[in-house]
Amino acid sequence: MLRSKKILLIIGGGIAAYKTLDLIRRLRERGADVTPVMTHAAAEFVTPLSVSALTGNKLYRDLFDLTDEAEMGHIQLSRSADIVLVAPATADLMAKMAQGLANDLASTLLLATDTPVTIAPAMNVRMWEHPATQRNIATLRGDGVRFVGPNDGDMACGEFGPGRMAEPLEIVAALEAQLADGPLKGKHVLVTSGPTHEPIDPVRYIANRSSGAQGTALATALAALGAQVTFVTGPADVPPPGGVTVVPVQTAQQMLEAVQAALPADAAIFAAAVADWRVEGASARKLKKSKDGLPTLNFAENPDILATVAQMEKGRPDLVVGFAAETNDVIANATAKRKRKGCDWIVANDVSPETGIMGGSENAVHLISDDGVEDWPRMPKDQVAARLAARLAQALS
Ligand code: CTP
Repeated sequence: MLRSKKILLIIGGGIAAYKTLDLIRRLRERGADVTPVMTHAAAEFVTPLSVSALTGNKLYRDLFDLTDEAEMGHIQLSRSADIVLVAPATADLMAKMAQGLANDLASTLLLATDTPVTIAPAMNVRMWEHPATQRNIATLRGDGVRFVGPNDGDMACGEFGPGRMAEPLEIVAALEAQLADGPLKGKHVLVTSGPTHEPIDPVRYIANRSSGAQGTALATALAALGAQVTFVTGPADVPPPGGVTVVPVQTAQQMLEAVQAALPADAAIFAAAVADWRVEGASARKLKKSKDGLPTLNFAENPDILATVAQMEKGRPDLVVGFAAETNDVIANATAKRKRKGCDWIVANDVSPETGIMGGSENAVHLISDDGVEDWPRMPKDQVAARLAARLAQALS
């Protein structure tokens, strides 16, 4: 899929740039033609010689390089690519992109391009979580920039959390998904998935048995039809899909914020098993056993993410799909739920333990819409996903 595709690769100045060398090899193995651009800071982390040798192409670094200007021009350089990829995308480069600054070659190309831009952010976890960066992320998403990562994990700076650049093969999968042609090409679809974890204290939490399998299968099926997928997931048992933007969260409140930050979207599917309640005033210290009796947990209601999005007055996705996990009166409960929450479709399923659906590999669903109730036969979760993705493509066309 990447064969003969022209990729303009902009390398920002971060320690993750060492992974970009491997990324270049992976892209070239697949037949991509990689034209590299480095910021001056990037050259502190990897050498220009390694980058141009691995790409086999001329390396561009300076805005005011008249020879390059005469040969092709910076505007043309930014537009002749099929994909513009920024890896690593530093906090500084993202801030420039969000502001529309054009004071070096990389930022000028990013402002001048009319080609889809994908970025693989990499930075210290505090920098990623800083409100300024979070604002820039929201701006860039709104501008249609696609994100791959960052991942959670140990970082070169010794801290742990989101901020590690996605692995080279994850970036390759994201680019392949972006180039995939299908009925959902050009559509942004948001998917929530997995359980949420609501803390009781630093070591204990309330959760549920959702594995994340159905939401993951859906995201995979949507990406295969060419959609740009943002996948907001609680701590799931199954690994997240490739070729989608993964936003990991823990709690319902974080899931709501991540969903709001990911909008606008053409469609949103809420497959997550969100905890309805959280513990009010979760303890900052581990609760200890006490002779004075058992601890009392007070619950507060979590925000209903599906209802919040389905009832948005401005910017509501064209199609909002919920799931209804029921143990009795499945159709009646799910039909009422669709009305109450204000979504367009409800995918209802029976999660009684004897069905083996929650945490299992199969699902038997009913699709409830304005047109009535459709009963689908029991089938593997990835087939449910493929069928639902195809229906969604039909509805959005
Ligand atoms: N949902 C949500 N936010 C919540 C609760 C649920 O977005 N706080 C979404 C789920 O992702 C699912 C749908 O709402 O798409 C229905 O979830 P379900 O657990 O079946 O319903 P509840 O709203 O929890 O209702 P009840 O517990 O009364 O069945």
